[in-house]
Amino acid sequence: MTIDTNTKRPIPAGFEHAHATPHSYAAMYAESISDPEGFWGREGKRLDWIKPYSKVKNTNFEFGEVSIKWFEDGVLNACVNCVDRHLPTRGSQTAIIFEPDNPDSPARHITYAELSEKVNRMANVLLSQGVVEGDRVVLYLPMIPEAAYAMLACARIGAIHSIVFAGFSSDALANRINDSEAKVLITADTAPRGGRVTALKSNADAALLNCSEKTRCLVVKHTGDQTTWVQGRDVDLLAQMEQASPDCPPRAMNAEDPLFILYTSGSTGRPKGVVHSIGGYLAFAAMTHEYTFDYHDGDVFWCTADVGWVTGHSYIVYGPLANGATTLMFEGVPTFPDAGRFWQVCEKHKVNQFYTAPTAIRALMAQEDEFVTRHDLSSLRVLGTVGEPINPEAWAWYNDVVGNGKCPIVDTWWQTETGGHLLTPLPGATETKPGSATVPFFGIKPVILEPESGKLLEDNPAEGVLCFADSWPGQMRTIWGDHQRFMETYFQQYPGYYFTGDGALRDEDGYYWITGRVDDVINVSGHRMGTSEVESALVAHAQVAEAAVVGYPHEIKGQGIYAYVTLMHDVEPSDGLRKDLETWVRTQIGPIARPDVIQWAPGLPKTRSGKIMRRILRKIAENDCKSLGDITTLADPEVVDDLIANRMNRG
Ligand code: WTA
Repeated sequence: MTIDTNTKRPIPAGFEHAHATPHSYAAMYAESISDPEGFWGREGKRLDWIKPYSKVKNTNFEFGEVSIKWFEDGVLNACVNCVDRHLPTRGSQTAIIFEPDNPDSPARHITYAELSEKVNRMANVLLSQGVVEGDRVVLYLPMIPEAAYAMLACARIGAIHSIVFAGFSSDALANRINDSEAKVLITADTAPRGGRVTALKSNADAALLNCSEKTRCLVVKHTGDQTTWVQGRDVDLLAQMEQASPDCPPRAMNAEDPLFILYTSGSTGRPKGVVHSIGGYLAFAAMTHEYTFDYHDGDVFWCTADVGWVTGHSYIVYGPLANGATTLMFEGVPTFPDAGRFWQVCEKHKVNQFYTAPTAIRALMAQEDEFVTRHDLSSLRVLGTVGEPINPEAWAWYNDVVGNGKCPIVDTWWQTETGGHLLTPLPGATETKPGSATVPFFGIKPVILEPESGKLLEDNPAEGVLCFADSWPGQMRTIWGDHQRFMETYFQQYPGYYFTGDGALRDEDGYYWITGRVDDVINVSGHRMGTSEVESALVAHAQVAEAAVVGYPHEIKGQGIYAYVTLMHDVEPSDGLRKDLETWVRTQIGPIARPDVIQWAPGLPKTRSGKIMRRILRKIAENDCKSLGDITTLADPEVVDDLIANRMNRG
């Protein structure tokens, strides 16, 4: 069955009173572009300010002078906006529904009043550990309510959190603790997921061996599993919270103070610490949450991402809680105990908006539809996707089988750097096309440039690199400790624009279609990975001389990791060594970086100046060996024949 991707799908019935309709979207978008000061000046007021801002926008994309400021003289507290201000009206409303990994364990409903109490207590524990405004606190936690408490507790006292996804290894954790010079690490004993258990605390112990001795370790005893305990360094966080006062005055913060750091992969070098601000980020997360998902009071919102990624920051915690929403936190995985888990949870908690990644949709689509249809999903109103392009087949299945044709699909394009959605349909306003992220959000000015010349392509259709011509409040402000790298990464190549690293096509209707990364970043199951990070891990192995890593199309993961490895001259390839290398990468970075394919490469294709021709390696990994292009500039063209003859992916 081929799916028609070019005809717009009408907006389903029932969205006549959505926050945005076709007419209001057009008018509001036009205003947001012609008068950003007026538009965002108004939207900033969705937050409560201790001292209102008098300046709205002060941004400069000029290379060498890049500076991004929004609401710069405003004073506020993010935690107050997500918690305190809701207490008079929503104290007894559920803020967080916690659904544990084990479906037989009871779910927990945490009200705004309880959330406030927990956050205040945890903030006081942080203060008692000597954490002060501006200090960094690293969180290495499972998907448990304490993760949200910890984020908000940091925000309350003006500390900057940096969450490290619990799937990262101890080495990766240590690097991030050291890069941000964190004073405190918050972790948990162990983390059950899909019936298996990750030993978070022992990973943390291993990481802390490579960090400053002064780093304190606050431990959430979540499962009660036994862990080692270092006297004087480790603190039983829940026990301390019991002792602490439930009242911790919020710190008055400047809008431009950092709210958090989140490390993400780029095409070169070590992961970058993306810095987000308090005022602009929070206003943008709240606004996009409300409009993109057409969130209304009383709805139950579920984003299945992990809080270790930006999606969890913006759409499990900050956006929903700033809006006084009920947000669901799920500790488990989509396929445990079976492929019906997501739908069972949707039915159980009467979820209204459901937001997940294409990789999960593809994995579930591969199972019987019965896993979906045996559940009552009539509460669902809006379905979202994020993380990578969604293939039209997965879109159609999501639409027909999960949404029963009644739920608009919002395919949201954005990045860690953007803080919130930049390209997305709005449920009541935008007709969709399967596989397209459609049109810009309010205030967003996408452009397509010719990759080589940087020329602005104004007519439709257009294909090239995706850039943005102006700032929005949720934009990242800098790379932690390296503003120069921030400017070079995003503003140098295409002067005057923010460069995303993505390629895109704009069709005759002005709809945007993401064609994938144009740099050496790959997207594995919606997790962003720099190929250079995997390469550095491989070459750090004593038996590896050289390695080159590329992405290749993978049916479920979107992209898989394909590694070409050249061994030291006296080392023989073997299956045992292949397993060793897989384990090695897991410990260096984490399970998400494990290569799907390792091909032994006696040599790598290089130009005479020694540069690896990755284009050729990508083609071979894709099993597309006919169109390798010009290989005459190679120093040693024969290596290509060997790589083709021994390629591992034959279709
Ligand atoms: C990709 C995740 C196509 C894109 C929020 C981007 C997408 C990178 C989509 C950012 C989408 C994200 N359609 N591609 N709807 N959403 N991407 O920083 O390549 O983990 O640059 O942020 O994911 O990944 P990140």
